[in-house]
Amino acid sequence: MSSNLHPVNTILIEHLAKRFGSAGQDTGHVLRDINLRISGGEFFVLLGPSGCGKSTLLNVIAGFLDKTAGSLLLNNEPICKPGRDRAMVFQHPDASLFPWLNIRENIEFGLRMKKVTPGERQEISDKFIKLVGLAGHANKFPRELSGGMKQRVQLARVLANDPAILLMDEPFGALDAMTRRSMQQELVRIWTQAKKTVVFVTHDIQEAILLGQRIGVMSKAPDATIYKLYEVKLPYPRDITTKEFNDLYKKIEANFLQEEADIVYKEKLIG
Ligand SMILES: Nc1ncnc2c1ncn2[C@@H]1O[C@H](COP(=O)(O)OP(=O)(O)O)[C@@H](O)[C@H]1O
Ligand SMILES: [Mg+2]
Repeated sequence: MSSNLHPVNTILIEHLAKRFGSAGQDTGHVLRDINLRISGGEFFVLLGPSGCGKSTLLNVIAGFLDKTAGSLLLNNEPICKPGRDRAMVFQHPDASLFPWLNIRENIEFGLRMKKVTPGERQEISDKFIKLVGLAGHANKFPRELSGGMKQRVQLARVLANDPAILLMDEPFGALDAMTRRSMQQELVRIWTQAKKTVVFVTHDIQEAILLGQRIGVMSKAPDATIYKLYEVKLPYPRDITTKEFNDLYKKIEANFLQEEADIVYKEKLIG
């Protein structure tokens, strides 16, 4: 998929650290010494156990949180606040959809803010309603939709705003297994067509291998960092039943367990 890589929309992270609270309080660092280059058009997955700092890192990239130290560049410019070039998809779509707007109005909201003409708005929302498989539901309200459908609306709304970079924080974590699988397939299809840079957070090894061109594995907080990078060379759409898929799964899982064992061992030495 190297044809998908663009020199633009590249995220460059060097020696990034994040601590909550003010410098005076000694709360410790959640993230420490994160180094990462995510190329334009790449599908990058951040994989790590719950509480390791994945959302924190994604929120720093989004510009919702300030970093404590290090450098964070997008197209060689420092990221210090949210921008239209980046959009976040959250785990719970209810947090981002307006209940009083129907699906089409929800999807067109950002375009309306940008003063896009009604005709153009309709053209764009039509396209993305179709793309996420919601044709025929445009006039429904969020309360009339299943969780999976709401997540599709959230995705369509984000895509309609045409951000260069999609930041996805365990977006399918709350869905049932079957809906989740179809959303994963849909996302791969959309990414192949729309050629966005995707940074996708998950704690699920299988999801990471299904989606990512590269997987960055994070250690636990405090002082969490990306300690391992995997390149996934399997062709899309990926098949979880192949030997190659399973081999990689086992390799990552073994590494995960080893990391856990190392932590317990270190704690025993200290305690
Ligand atoms: N606003 C905050 N203030 C203080 N600590 C926080 C805040 N947000 C997250 N943390 C802490 O940072 C660590 C990482 O959290 P988070 O990034 O949400 O992990 P993950 O998304 O991997 O589950 C946790 O220990 C969490 O308690
Ligand atoms: Mg999180």
